[in-house]
Order: sequence, then C-alpha cells, then structure tokens
Amino acid sequence: MSAKNDQSVSAVIRERHSIRKYDPNYKIAREEIVDILNSAILAPSSSNLQPWRFIIIDNEEVKKELRLIANNQEPIESSSAVIAVLGDKEMHKNIEKVYRSGYDAGFMDEENMNRLMNNANSLYPNLSEEARKNIASFDAGLVSMQLMLIAKEKGYDTVPMGGFDKVKFNERFNVSERFTPMVLIALGKAEASPFKTTRIPLKDIAEFI
Ligand SMILES: Cc1cc2nc3c(=O)[nH]c(=O)nc-3n(C[C@H](O)[C@H](O)[C@H](O)COP(=O)(O)O)c2cc1C
Repeated sequence: MSAKNDQSVSAVIRERHSIRKYDPNYKIAREEIVDILNSAILAPSSSNLQPWRFIIIDNEEVKKELRLIANNQEPIESSSAVIAVLGDKEMHKNIEKVYRSGYDAGFMDEENMNRLMNNANSLYPNLSEEARKNIASFDAGLVSMQLMLIAKEKGYDTVPMGGFDKVKFNERFNVSERFTPMVLIALGKAEASPFKTTRIPLKDIAEFI
C-alpha cells in the first residue's frame, strides 16, 4: 500500500524512507515543488521567525555541478530537484515582517504586535551567533521534516543529505554570510527500493518520570 492511498500522517511517516536512486526522466513541475514548500513552511519556528531559505536546483547541468561538491552522491543527479535548506543566523531581521503580517491579517492588535516585536528585538540580536545558528539549524530541521513528509504524501520520495562541502556550496550559489546551508534534500520519483532501517527501541531512549 502506498502512502498516497492512505493520507494519515502516521501512514506517511511509516512509508517514508530515504531513497537514493530516482527515475532521472521524471520531472516534478515547479508548481508542485512550490506547493510542497508552501506546506512545509507552515512548520513551527522559534518566535515564528522562520529562519530558513530554500535554493531549488532542478537544472540538470547545475545538479551535475552540485553532485561534485556533495561527495558525488548519486541522488543529486537522478532526482528531479534538490532543495537546499539554509538556516538564517540573523532571524531577527524577520521580526518586523513577521509580526506586522500577523497584525495585518487581524491575528493581533497593535499593542500585542509591538509587545512581541519588543520582546524579540530584546532577545535575538543579543544572542551569540552560535546560539542563533543553533536555533536556525533546529528550525531548519523542522521545516525539512515537513517537506519530506509532504513530498511522500504526494507520492514522491526524498533523501536528506548532510554530506556536502558547505564552503564550496556557498561559493557556487553566492550564499551570503547570513545563511548557513543545513541540508540538501533530493526529491524525485523512486526508482529503487529503500534501504530499510531500524530504530533503537523506545524503551532504551524514553522514560516516564
Ligand atoms: C541531517 C541528515 C543528514 C544526512 N546525510 C545523508 C547523506 O549525506 N547521504 C545519505 O545517503 N543519507 C543521509 N542521511 C539519511 C540517513 O542516512 C537516513 O535518514 C537514516 O539512515 C534513516 O533512514 P531512513 O531515512 O530511510 O529512515 C542524512 C539524514 C539526516 C537527517
């Protein structure tokens, strides 16, 4: 049974596995990738500052280049697109935009908007860069997970890849200092079965107190 036939979240979670070989002739339309991303960005984030950016690489020549800076990993080339998820270390630059849009949408009054802006402005800019990078990387993980599950729900597969040269990635894609590439997610139509994995039993990793 494919996840497509059973849309429950738990079925999609159980069906998702990292796929490392895709049908190179299968192209996912940009509109569909936009749909996937529009759902993924509904992920929660610290103070709703949404410290993420995406670079979508669906050009065959550019994917070949990317493969070279990603340990020659095959899914980069056979997938339909690779979505690079970047973390935003300067998420405080989103404060005004985020809270004003909540106000404009009628979700908060002006007093609350100002209170939230002040709270965030007194916190994030004063954190160390390392603390902000940690927040960005955590939140980028949440949006990445949503992306992979939504892709699966739509009948596609993914593999997240941390194995790439981040310095070379930044150079090739002109990524500014503000952003850190976190993970490359290959997205496509599976051509090979997944390499199945197990999990450490819950009893070994969780306790009720
Ligand atoms: C942050 C992160 C980085 C990963 N990097 C790679 C990678 O570079 N290459 C790869 O083949 N798989 C990579 N994986 C996939 C894991 O190997 C895989 O998720 C894990 O073995 C569990 O298998 P599953 O995804 O099929 O459940 C990565 C996964 C995560 C979460």
